Amino acid sequence: MNDTPTWRAAGGQPALSRRTFMMTTAASAGVAAAGGAAATTTDAPDAPDAPANPHAGSQATRVTVNGKSHELALEPRASLLDVLREQLGLTGAKKGCDHGQCGACTVHIDGCRVASCLTLAVKTDGCAVTTIEGIESPDGTLHPMQQSFIDHDALQCGYCTPGQVMAAIACVREGHATSDAQIREYMSGNICRCGAYAGILEAIREAAPQMLRSQGARHA
Ligand code: FES
Ligand code: FES
Repeated sequence: MNDTPTWRAAGGQPALSRRTFMMTTAASAGVAAAGGAAATTTDAPDAPDAPANPHAGSQATRVTVNGKSHELALEPRASLLDVLREQLGLTGAKKGCDHGQCGACTVHIDGCRVASCLTLAVKTDGCAVTTIEGIESPDGTLHPMQQSFIDHDALQCGYCTPGQVMAAIACVREGHATSDAQIREYMSGNICRCGAYAGILEAIREAAPQMLRSQGARHA
């Protein structure tokens, strides 16, 4: 028995033995690889640059973020959260759910808290946006709410904390921090997966009078 089977072309003529086929295939692969390497080298100068900004578009948007003005050309569907994080490099606001359900993305627009994942960036045209990066004093002193969160150990992993702090500042300003029940109610949109709620409540309870005493000297 011939252990080197031969493929036969139409008409029964021997066409290709297994050995010949393997050698031919290996040789072809080598040539292809060599050609590919050459092509890669040749093509390298034409390789595309960094990926295009997915949030860039035609909608002119002038927005002040943490006191710094920006003139942006935005894609109309870009969320404020994505533009802050991916275009402006402000990664303090976190993307938890991207559906308006966790509060991790909370920032302020003209002093009011919003879920930035549900806010179109183009809607901030002419507005002042404040993120967690913008609430400390110019000399680096933490906002009383930030300090209070630290003092009361109001976090574990910290992922929700920027949103918690921004919501807590707004909560005090709104006059919704006059009792524990009220704080719980008006902070209920900010979820903490670590369950640091006891510390968060204590932090807000302590920071609220400090904020009110300072009469908004340190706006967020
Ligand atoms: S990421 Fe915006 S609410 Fe969850
Ligand atoms: S501290 Fe971890 S989610 Fe709130």
